[in-house]
Amino acid sequence: MQNLEEKVVAITGANVGIGKAIAVKLSEKGTKVVLGARNTELLEKVVEEIRSKGGEAAFVKIDVSHKADLARLVNAAVTVYGKLDVMVNNAGVAGISRVDELDVHSWDEMIDINIKGTLYGMAAAIPVFKQQQSGHIVNIISTSGIKIVPTQAVYAATKNAVRTISEAFRQESDGSIRITGISPGYVKTDFAVKSVNTKDLKAAASNAVKSLAISPEAVANAVIYAISQPKDVEVGDIVIRPAKQH
Ligand SMILES: NC(=O)c1ccc[n+]([C@@H]2O[C@H](COP(=O)([O-])OP(=O)(O)OC[C@H]3O[C@@H](n4cnc5c(N)ncnc54)[C@H](OP(=O)(O)O)[C@@H]3O)[C@@H](O)[C@H]2O)c1
Repeated sequence: MQNLEEKVVAITGANVGIGKAIAVKLSEKGTKVVLGARNTELLEKVVEEIRSKGGEAAFVKIDVSHKADLARLVNAAVTVYGKLDVMVNNAGVAGISRVDELDVHSWDEMIDINIKGTLYGMAAAIPVFKQQQSGHIVNIISTSGIKIVPTQAVYAATKNAVRTISEAFRQESDGSIRITGISPGYVKTDFAVKSVNTKDLKAAASNAVKSLAISPEAVANAVIYAISQPKDVEVGDIVIRPAKQH
């Protein structure tokens, strides 16, 4: 793996699930990680876990729907570790329901966290990357945006907004700032269960995750692959789903 021990990586949504797996796996390779999320108790636990194994990590309480919080996350990386090499925009939520259920609150949340949160992460990192003349943005997207199914309209739309923004940024960049979109399918986290709001749907989601989902470490491995390429190689899109997922 190229230069992972020299890298500083900021990760949003890093206290559980995929974000935590990315943080832990990278720290095992010697990468310095700066973790952001809202729940600081969980953030502290991840940082303790990383430090107990000899890794280096810091955390910042952030809500990605607040632009200034992303700036604080990036500033923490630069202040504590002197630079930022990779910004992983991973924090996300889903509110799964039919459009005609009009769950406007969830629509707002998905737009604020999944789209604006990713844009704010990019907005915080890009000035630092421009100054350094290097940097890498990794956006965690979803296969929901690739295979569109009922009840995932707004979630898939937010993820496809991120896909579109990422592709445009790739074309605009002179290559000194790289961008990778990673689209996971079902992953073993609490995400799917949190995304539905009835007991029956939660039970169904839990069963689907148990029987089908891949480990969050599989997604972390994809991040590691993307960011350990030589400077002239940009991995654009990675789709990583359970082999059995339709
Ligand atoms: N699990 C899957 O099957 C799956 C599949 C495809 C794509 N994804 C995507 O992968 C990413 C991570 O999902 P996951 O499965 O790891 O979900 P998860 O276990 O529910 O974790 C979500 C993370 O996002 C953070 N977060 C949510 N809202 C936030 C906010 N406003 N500000 C800061 N952090 C926030 C949460 O921390 P706090 O609540 O403490 O802030 C948590 O760390 C998401 O973007 C999701 O869309 C997941």
